[in-house]
Amino acid sequence: MNDALKRAAAEKALDDVKPGMKLGIGTGSTADLFTKALGAKVRGGLDIIGVPTSERTRALAEKEGIRLSTLDELGELDLTIDGADEIGPGLDLIKGGGGALLREKIVASASRRMIVIADGTKVVPTLGAFPLPIEVVAFGLAATRAAINTVLRACGLDGALELRGDADHPFVTDGGHYILDAHLAKIPEPAQLAPMLVGIPGVVDHGLFINLAEKAYVAGQDGVETLTA
Ligand code: 5RP
Repeated sequence: MNDALKRAAAEKALDDVKPGMKLGIGTGSTADLFTKALGAKVRGGLDIIGVPTSERTRALAEKEGIRLSTLDELGELDLTIDGADEIGPGLDLIKGGGGALLREKIVASASRRMIVIADGTKVVPTLGAFPLPIEVVAFGLAATRAAINTVLRACGLDGALELRGDADHPFVTDGGHYILDAHLAKIPEPAQLAPMLVGIPGVVDHGLFINLAEKAYVAGQDGVETLTA
């Protein structure tokens, strides 16, 4: 049932894709549905050029026959379409459940607009029930973990930091880094936490997307609702 809702949101976003656009293409199950729908449009003659936000999306987009390039070649993109793990007030997001948060944030930040596609379960009054992914370098992991805990406590937050995967086989991102998932339950002030996390040596980035999304297409039983920031 969720797949039908994800597909509805993904297909709605196709309306925003115009010929000639330079498009950021997101990662995750909802973004996959968008990529497949976009592929059908491309095979029908729509001319766009895409920048994938992960190797997973690159493989799918190539299979779909979507022309791809890089941010280095294209410069600013017109639009990025991507999913989210949580959509909070003001369209602040948690992303990175699929481990692609770094490239997703680089691509969204290099786009004039970002549109989020999701089913209604992703909309929350306060971010944080979904564990916050924090991408870290492998070197000095224990020191980085301690520094993150210090920042969390300074922000009045507490909760376990769990290495994604397991100690013997950690999940490795496309950038060759690890992910610590922060189980915080609630993040009442994401805009306060975000810069403090990136200030820690060893933290590459985190899944808080603040002031990046322009609108969200959220699909529920009654149709697709448009949320604006
Ligand atoms: C990947 C992401 C995804 O957008 C997020 O995890 C949502 O995925 P899904 O559409 O499968 O629920 O941030 O890094």
